[in-house]
Amino acid sequence: MTKIKQFESEWLPKINELLVHQVAIDGSQEQLVAAMQYSVDAGGKRLRPLLALATVISLGKSVNVDVLKALTAVELLHTYSLIHDDLPAMDDDDLRRGKPSNHVIYGDALATLAGDGLQALAFQWVTDNQLTSTIQSELALKLAIAAGPAGMVAGQADDVLNENNPLTADQLRVLHENKTGALIHYAVESGLIVGDIKPSDRQQYLRFADDYGLAFQIYDDVLDVVSNEQTLGKPVHQDADKNTYPNLFGLAESKRLLKATIADGLAALDQIQKSQGYDPEILRALCGYFKIEEI
Ligand code: IPE
Ligand code: IPE
Ligand code: MG
Ligand code: MG
Ligand code: MG
Repeated sequence: MTKIKQFESEWLPKINELLVHQVAIDGSQEQLVAAMQYSVDAGGKRLRPLLALATVISLGKSVNVDVLKALTAVELLHTYSLIHDDLPAMDDDDLRRGKPSNHVIYGDALATLAGDGLQALAFQWVTDNQLTSTIQSELALKLAIAAGPAGMVAGQADDVLNENNPLTADQLRVLHENKTGALIHYAVESGLIVGDIKPSDRQQYLRFADDYGLAFQIYDDVLDVVSNEQTLGKPVHQDADKNTYPNLFGLAESKRLLKATIADGLAALDQIQKSQGYDPEILRALCGYFKIEEI
């Protein structure tokens, strides 16, 4: 079994089990809980909690139920962002994770509230556990920064407000760093916070995270052009009026930029291994998500 398959077969069932059971326990309004569970249980790659777990494991720390809960919270926040992203007032997409989008099943009002509920629940999960209050409050602060008006939501605002208004290369990079990079930055950062390593040791990990996050959105933009609905579980060819890497640079240059961004992330992991003595092999394996030879 490859490293990544081994890692996923150990952790995906635990992440999914926690998501299925705990979301049911934490809500009280039956239809709202059903709407929240619908999108959470629809699947998804779970890349953000996997990045967080791979980070904490690379530091040689063990993962108990409290660590797992705190590090899986980012998946709730991410799922909320997808529900809202698909709403008619945003990207107006009817398919997500291979199923009808949340609002198609539950209507716009309940879908909006399911997103709201998942966002708040993410903050509950990073603080309602047995970790130290110092770790809890740092997780909550960094998650708020990543998800909020200087992070993911800022990127989403730039995205929807600039349809049919071409941005410059620098503006587009910032948009992508915010709308997608910020939460991936947080995922790795959450592993560093739980692992309790000093800020000077965090720098290369966060460089890796930022490269991974930017690469992730460039790759998503490319997949919108070259992939298909069945493989992605969401509609393709939706980005004609959007600010994307293929629209600004063309496909070939987008792929070159994607490769260069991943290469920089891998160089950061080499640094971590050489100078800090940590073992980021699973983070390296998670770069296998980018199937560059297939696009
Ligand atoms: C989709 O994220 C939205 C982007 C940030 C591009 P993912 O590709 O991680 O979606 P899931 O979680 O696997 O469904
Ligand atoms: C969304 O970007 C990023 C989020 C913060 C949800 P996209 O709009 O490109 O994501 P998809 O393609 O719908 O998954
Ligand atoms: Mg969008
Ligand atoms: Mg979208
Ligand atoms: Mg997209």
